[in-house]
Amino acid sequence: MKLVTAIIRAYQTDQVREELIANGITRITVSRVSGHGAQQRVEVYRGKKVIPDLIPKVRLEIAVNEDFVEKAIEAIMVGVKGDAAKEGQIGDGKIFVTTLDECIRIRTGERGTTAI
Ligand SMILES: Nc1ncnc2c1ncn2[C@@H]1O[C@H](COP(=O)(O)OP(=O)(O)OP(=O)(O)O)[C@@H](O)[C@H]1O
Ligand SMILES: [Mg+2]
Repeated sequence: MKLVTAIIRAYQTDQVREELIANGITRITVSRVSGHGAQQRVEVYRGKKVIPDLIPKVRLEIAVNEDFVEKAIEAIMVGVKGDAAKEGQIGDGKIFVTTLDECIRIRTGERGTTAI
């Protein structure tokens, strides 16, 4: 099992969700977060270091079985890019994939791949 965590632009959330659902990935957690990527620099303003503002983003968390990892990544990429002709832009976001040790469905007590 893997946890796919994606940080995307807030306005792309519905587009990405639609793409995930179309690929059979229907369970998701969505949070509003803020952060910045590599392009932000520390600047000096009136002799003080000023860290530029955090940018609002959306974090998607999707726990999947192994055979859905690449499908989830592909769906997020397609959803973020939207129209296939669109170029990639700075700040498009990131996808992190981590190993998930356990998953428990509280209602039934099922564990592991069947609980996902
Ligand atoms: N290494 C990281 N660790 C934690 N969060 C990150 C990391 N990189 C990016 N993020 C999160 O993802 C958001 C989008 O990052 P972003 O797409 O700007 O990454 P980048 O490395 O600057 O790539 P790009 O050059 O395409 O902009 C950030 O605002 C931040 O919330
Ligand atoms: Mg960036």
